Amino acid sequence: MPQIFSRKVNSLPTLTLLGTLAGGVFAVLFVWYYFSPKFTDVGYAPQQPVEYSHRLHVGQLGLDCQYCHTNVKNANHSNVPATQTCMNCHSQVRTESLKLLPVRESWATGEPIEWIKVHKLPDYANFSHSVHTNNGVGCESCHGRIDQMEIVAQAQPLSMSWCIDCHRSPEQFLRPNSEITTMGYDYPEDFLTANLARIVSEDIQPPTNCSACHY
Ligand code: HEC
Ligand code: HEC
Ligand code: HEC
Ligand code: HEC
Ligand code: HEC
Repeated sequence: MPQIFSRKVNSLPTLTLLGTLAGGVFAVLFVWYYFSPKFTDVGYAPQQPVEYSHRLHVGQLGLDCQYCHTNVKNANHSNVPATQTCMNCHSQVRTESLKLLPVRESWATGEPIEWIKVHKLPDYANFSHSVHTNNGVGCESCHGRIDQMEIVAQAQPLSMSWCIDCHRSPEQFLRPNSEITTMGYDYPEDFLTANLARIVSEDIQPPTNCSACHY
């Protein structure tokens, strides 16, 4: 008797089952990938070419962020300091330290220190520091307690939903512009009322339309 269905069909249920399983695994991987800190990069803390410590320089010596990150209030891009900024002190302080050898080398050769970038948005997303730092969003809200970090680690996901969560209810995050670089800022009890009033008087309207962040 001729076979009506080829032998292959017999394996169809098995294949379907395998397919379902694979699909399931894929869905799990997908969810795992998109929601895990690995994807959002929270905790990413690459080893830097110099053991520069924010805990020492900010937490203990008390330097303001803008001593080194001079552009944060007037440009989209926040700069990492040039070697000259380090040498303001280190031409006199710890001049023999081996930990500072790469800094002295950079100074001598004029080759910049190759700091490894920690925070990075994809190119298709626009971000400006100055618009945030001039409208009451503190460094701490996006970068965490930098003053306690021996090595800089990414504190927030920097994902689209994270951006938009704040854009929908900025009153929960704003602080006076004079406190932008303060670490461990203590929100006063009535801060929500004060922020709501400020949002109206200064017409603070963070965008939620796609084209504001993607052109
Ligand atoms: C004495 C100079 C100095 C001061 C003051 C300073 N920083 Fe930095 N900062 C650096 C250097 C150098 C790097 C690059 C190396 C590193 O990541 O540690 C850096 C890196 C960073 C990064 C990571 C940049 C990236 O690659 O994504 C953030 C965020 C940052 N600083 C925030 C702050 C904040 C907030 C303050 C104030 C509370 C501050 N810094 C004060 C020198 C400084
Ligand atoms: C305002 C002055 C000042 C500036 C600017 C400064 N430092 Fe320092 N730094 C110090 C002091 C003071 C110490 C040492 C504290 C101590 O005695 O332990 C130090 C210590 C260090 C050490 C540890 C040295 C060791 O032997 O333990 C490193 C590394 C370092 N700084 C890197 C940098 C880098 C990189 C920059 C520029 C981004 C920088 N510093 C800018 C004041 C400064
Ligand atoms: C609203 C959130 C937000 C605030 C507020 C904010 N940052 Fe950032 N910062 C970011 C994001 C996002 C990036 C990555 C930008 C990119 O890849 O284009 C970044 C990058 C940086 C970098 C790395 C620049 C580079 O290209 O290497 C430094 C340094 C930095 N921020 C310092 C600061 C300091 C200092 C303050 C406060 C004065 C501050 N930031 C406030 C979100 C913020
Ligand atoms: C903690 C709160 C907060 C977070 C987080 C935040 N923003 Fe904002 N954003 C604001 C505020 C406040 C403004 C100012 C609105 C105004 O000036 O009316 C703003 C303004 C903007 C603007 C408008 C710029 C302009 O020229 O008008 C863009 C674009 C923007 N944010 C992008 C982002 C992106 C991208 C992220 C995430 C990587 C982000 N923001 C995260 C609070 C936040
Ligand atoms: C406040 C800023 C902001 C607004 C408004 C915004 N996006 Fe995004 N979007 C981002 C950022 C930042 C990323 C990058 C996220 C990351 O790297 O994880 C992103 C990523 C994306 C991606 C890449 C896929 C993904 O999920 O990572 C798509 C697609 C996208 N946005 C579409 C949109 C559309 C459509 C709208 C309007 C409904 C919109 N965005 C509004 C900031 C914004």
